[in-house]
Amino acid sequence: MDLFEYRNGRLYAEDVPVERIADDVGTPCHIYSEATLKRHFNLLKEAFAEADPLICYSVKANSSLAVLKLLDEEGSGFDIVSGGELFRVLKIGGDPARVVYAGVGKTRREIEYAIEAGILMFNVESKSELEAIEAVAGSLAATAAVALRLNPDVDPKTHRHTTTGKKENKFGIDLETAGAIISDLHALPHVKLTGLDTHLGSPINTVDPYVQALTKVLPLLESARAAGHQVEYINIGGGYGIEYRGGETATPADYAAAIVPLIKKSGCKLIMEPGRFIVGNAGIMLSRVTYVKESGDRSFAICDAAMNDLIRPALYDSYHKIWPVTTDKALSESVDARADRNGYANFDVVGPVCESGDFLAKGRTLPRMAEGDLLSIFSAGAYGMSMSSNYNSRPRAAEVMVSGAGYRIVRQRETYDDLIRAERFD
Ligand code: LLP
Repeated sequence: MDLFEYRNGRLYAEDVPVERIADDVGTPCHIYSEATLKRHFNLLKEAFAEADPLICYSVKANSSLAVLKLLDEEGSGFDIVSGGELFRVLKIGGDPARVVYAGVGKTRREIEYAIEAGILMFNVESKSELEAIEAVAGSLAATAAVALRLNPDVDPKTHRHTTTGKKENKFGIDLETAGAIISDLHALPHVKLTGLDTHLGSPINTVDPYVQALTKVLPLLESARAAGHQVEYINIGGGYGIEYRGGETATPADYAAAIVPLIKKSGCKLIMEPGRFIVGNAGIMLSRVTYVKESGDRSFAICDAAMNDLIRPALYDSYHKIWPVTTDKALSESVDARADRNGYANFDVVGPVCESGDFLAKGRTLPRMAEGDLLSIFSAGAYGMSMSSNYNSRPRAAEVMVSGAGYRIVRQRETYDDLIRAERFD
């Protein structure tokens, strides 16, 4: 579903050979495909067309302005979790009336900023937060639209660090408390209940958790309506899986087939908050091999990209396909781990950061590599750049947007001066 492919042994992003970008821009760098971003947004939109969804792209997955701008032009709304994300959305001219705001720790200042900007609604995660919104809205003589983010206690069967809809997680309001909040809502004149919301975790590779959650949540809709609230929206959050390895996830059509009938029956409008699905496979990260080091029975490909550029393997043991940018060996070729003599070897692909957790892949069978070789780390568009850091005082990588046969730098590589810009020592 993406537009990164090998042609005659060279990797292309759309119609640009990526080694050209590496030569011009340097490495490490993140490369995005404009056509793939649009394609993924529209795949989801079309699959759910019957429910006419408001797709609120989850900004945290990749908050780069160029990505936000492109999705805004496609008609996307935005799911935000901080004042900083709202600032980014407003900066690119995004429509606040298509912004939903989740997160367990919104400060009063952030709440005020969002009300003044005119966002569509807050996804409220606790009674205390609801009271804070009531107070801030009251002080601004405004009425704030809210959805209750519900914690339905459903296991999305994903990594424990990215599971959010189980009762032990900090997210959302349990159904019983939500029922009580709904009955007492008339005491809060500056909030208006317009939606019910869940986000279960990420990535979720099957439809089942969504169906389980909706089955638990929809009865609350009835009680809310019976109490006189005009609930217009059901927000099913994000989490839609992507192919990191290939073949592991449900498709948009699968998700839609299970979810759309339930939404239609509810009579509500649908909101979705996809992040990874749109950007994950619309981005790759390029890195150059600085050294190859043989140590005992291990081979290390030491690259110029590190955990500060893509932390997912270190943090969640995530799998990202890695392959040389120029190679006579097909990426899809099934590789025999013992086929050393056929030009393959087992590599730990690591970065230069001073931690043993700094790896991009471990024990991976790859074509034999040499110093100077370029590698592509695939599926790096989501939670790559947005989770990057300056750890080890490493300037952040550059970002490039490819469109057809052309490309542009959408974020300059940071300089050493950028590293210390906000600091002083006198
Ligand atoms: N909505 C809410 C309220 C969320 O918290 C998230 C992600 C999303 C939507 C979007 O989820 P997506 O469609 O992208 O799966 N850093 C982790 C993922 C953390 C997700 C946090 N919340 C990773 O790299 O896998």
